Amino acid sequence: MNAIELLKADHEKVKSILAQLSESTDRGIKKRTDLLAKLEMEITIHTRLEEEILYPAFKQAGGKDEAEMYYEAKEEHRTVDSLVLPDLKVTDPSTPEFAGRVKVVKELLEHHIEEEETDMFPDAEKLLGKEALEALGEQMETMKAQYRKDAQAA
Ligand SMILES: [Fe+2]
Ligand SMILES: [Fe+2]
Repeated sequence: MNAIELLKADHEKVKSILAQLSESTDRGIKKRTDLLAKLEMEITIHTRLEEEILYPAFKQAGGKDEAEMYYEAKEEHRTVDSLVLPDLKVTDPSTPEFAGRVKVVKELLEHHIEEEETDMFPDAEKLLGKEALEALGEQMETMKAQYRKDAQAA
């Protein structure tokens, strides 16, 4: 899989977890807790693949517009990873507050994914080309495999 295909496959997984989370109810406490753990795991590795592999290559290959997109996307990652997800994790899953926060996470992530897929990724495909994207995809597979191994060992 090339880098873009791999990241898009991750997006589908994230969107499906978000859909399940938003359909869950205040009584499905275990379900909510499990889904939230799954979401966090997916997002953590996905964000690393982007910030450590795709984004730097994209920024380097591009100009001013790409630099702006790069910083905007990183800021959105930071919002989710440092503010919204940590808050959600300490919210009682049996409450409507949890559902409200899930809604915000879902909106933020869907907006972010949409921008990546409609603006950044097509631009990256043009700027980087097939071969580079294949190579970046391989780096991503390696990083993902290592992450899974570490997660299992932990
Ligand atoms: Fe992203
Ligand atoms: Fe992404």
